[in-house]
Amino acid sequence: MPVTRIPPVPPSEITPRQVWLDRRKLIAGMAGAAALPLLPGAAAAKPVIEPLEAQKNPGFVPSDPATEKRLATTYNNFYEFGTGKGDPVRNAGELKVRPWTVEIVGEVAKPRTVGIEDLLKFALEERIYRFRCVEAWSMVIPWVGFEFNKLAALVEPTGRAKFVRFTTALRPEEMSGIRANLPVLDWPYVEGLRIDEAMHPLTLVTLGMYGETLPNQNGAPVRLVVPWKYGYKSAKSIVRIEFLEKQPVSSWTKAAMHEYGFYSNVNPNVDHPRWSQKRERLLPALFASRETEMFNGYADQVASLYAGMDLRANH
Ligand code: MTE
Repeated sequence: MPVTRIPPVPPSEITPRQVWLDRRKLIAGMAGAAALPLLPGAAAAKPVIEPLEAQKNPGFVPSDPATEKRLATTYNNFYEFGTGKGDPVRNAGELKVRPWTVEIVGEVAKPRTVGIEDLLKFALEERIYRFRCVEAWSMVIPWVGFEFNKLAALVEPTGRAKFVRFTTALRPEEMSGIRANLPVLDWPYVEGLRIDEAMHPLTLVTLGMYGETLPNQNGAPVRLVVPWKYGYKSAKSIVRIEFLEKQPVSSWTKAAMHEYGFYSNVNPNVDHPRWSQKRERLLPALFASRETEMFNGYADQVASLYAGMDLRANH
């Protein structure tokens, strides 16, 4: 199917000219950009981190303070770079995040490929979201991005689009975890959402965190953040977005269907087969001393998406 370059973004989504000029400088100036301080012993990774201007959205400020940036950027899950929490910050600098394009195809009237520079033209906002991993730890993170539904509007999903699949980068030459042939997941890492979940205003196309572009270990240059679901639904380093008629099979569901369902909504009442989800460890706490909230605290906004559904069967 022919894929065209992105047309102009609708005026309502356009960022003030000066901000966007600054972002152009940002893209042009990548080579000289300051690197994120890495943990001692980190490899010669030089992730490109630059300031990313965004309107703070006061509607998304949880009662807990934001997790310390150093923790959120050094304690990660990104199996393409190894399965240890400290592996991504050590190894993800190998990933070349410019140039970068995302193909948007499938059940859409206007398939197209967008460059990272096109995504940076959207009106970005900062939203501080609770982020809950299926492993029962959580953080509070100021993400910078824009609603997925705004990206979807550009490609005009057809009436047959019922699901969205997110496929992430697969570059063995830049990904040590893949080179190591770890028998964990089938690559590339793939995730999916029902169309109404993807279009929900909480679902964020994310380009930055803590007022800066994303560090590689957090999914540079573009990832998803779906705050009411376990963290593995939030695919990192996305290269392809497909609107589909049928429910896609995500990587974790394929690896262990009974442990990682398609929905993966944060739910204190449905335990993981190997551990409880009743409580969580809000990092840097050492113990799971907090009660997990239904839909990670976003029930008021999203519970209606699942009205009448058995959330145990559809975990
Ligand atoms: N995306 C890719 N491509 N590969 C991964 O291994 N891990 C997921 C998700 N997205 C993962 C991924 C999991 S399990 C979690 S908890 C979050 O990323 C972690 O995001 P963070 O490191 O920014 O906290």
